[in-house]
Amino acid sequence: MIRSVICGYGAALPKKAMANSEIEGIVETSDEWIAQRTGIRQRYIADETETTASLGEAAARQALDRAGLTADDIDLIIVATSTPDNTFPATAVNIQNRLGMHHGAAFDVQAVCSGFIFALTTANNYVLSGMARRVLVIGAETFSRILDWTDRTTCVLFGDGAGAVIIEAREGEGVTSDRGILTAHLRSDGAHKDKLYVDGGPSSTGTVGQLRMQGREVFKHAVGMITDVIEAAYDATGLSSEDIDWFVPHQANRRIIEASAKKLGIADEKVVLTVDKHGNTSAASIPLALNEAASAGKIKEGDLVLLEAMGGGFTWGSVLVRW
Ligand code: ACO
Repeated sequence: MIRSVICGYGAALPKKAMANSEIEGIVETSDEWIAQRTGIRQRYIADETETTASLGEAAARQALDRAGLTADDIDLIIVATSTPDNTFPATAVNIQNRLGMHHGAAFDVQAVCSGFIFALTTANNYVLSGMARRVLVIGAETFSRILDWTDRTTCVLFGDGAGAVIIEAREGEGVTSDRGILTAHLRSDGAHKDKLYVDGGPSSTGTVGQLRMQGREVFKHAVGMITDVIEAAYDATGLSSEDIDWFVPHQANRRIIEASAKKLGIADEKVVLTVDKHGNTSAASIPLALNEAASAGKIKEGDLVLLEAMGGGFTWGSVLVRW
């Protein structure tokens, strides 16, 4: 039975880190308020030379190096982003070209903060169907470009960055101890589309627009939606929170992560937290966190890793993977 095994990972952050104290000079806020409500202490902000595609390319190159592969070995690139360099062509084809890859296919997936989970699930289905053997999956964002820097309820939360993984088809026994993606679950409900959105776009206003959010409403729904897709993963595999070695959630807010882990009975020491350093990087947050935990030697081959995200749409999803 075919499984999609993660054989490479990488990440890239803009050069400039912005501490909470620097935002105190832009809107009326404080390091204490931001850290206490969100767990965020700093985020990275792209300069004019850095874009979603350039950060995505850097993350992809690191993932290829770690896997001992080149772009020639990749069949498909999927980029999750809500902040593309251009409305079209897709950021994925931009990165494809930057990597010197002129075969295969490349496309973007847009599911906001759940984008990486949606992209990885799509990639997994390409591998399982035999349509691709190796897929480069990238989450890359420059949310700083769509923030309203006069709105303290949103501008303090987000940051820029990119992460990537490569999945590869490998034969397994079809048991949960095999390496690879064991199960994936996606959900969305457009009834919540006005709770977190960008107030512009080519077809509505002809402008790029800025991020708008009803923070409390997002918070209210987050934990229930996250636990729903994780329980679906447990139901599909017969595994439980006790079996999880590492919980790598979308990094939106420390309080949402801790409340979800508590509700699911996942021990604190199994939770990978990077929101303090990166802020909320939307589709980039999970691969950035994976890169940090794996390159630090925490996530090791054979570990059971639980990924989840929830974001604008609303969209939400989980992927359970044997690393
Ligand atoms: N600095 C100082 N004060 C602030 C700030 C700020 N940056 N932002 C809001 N406040 C004020 C408000 O104006 C309000 O003041 P008031 O009482 O005088 O009216 C007070 O703080 C409380 O505001 P609330 O919005 O009720 O604060 P809350 O405790 O809900 O925290 C937060 C706000 C952090 C946004 C929270 O609702 C949250 O985390 N929501 C989830 C949103 C999220 O994570 N979104 C990410 C995208 S979705 C995803 O990735 C899952």
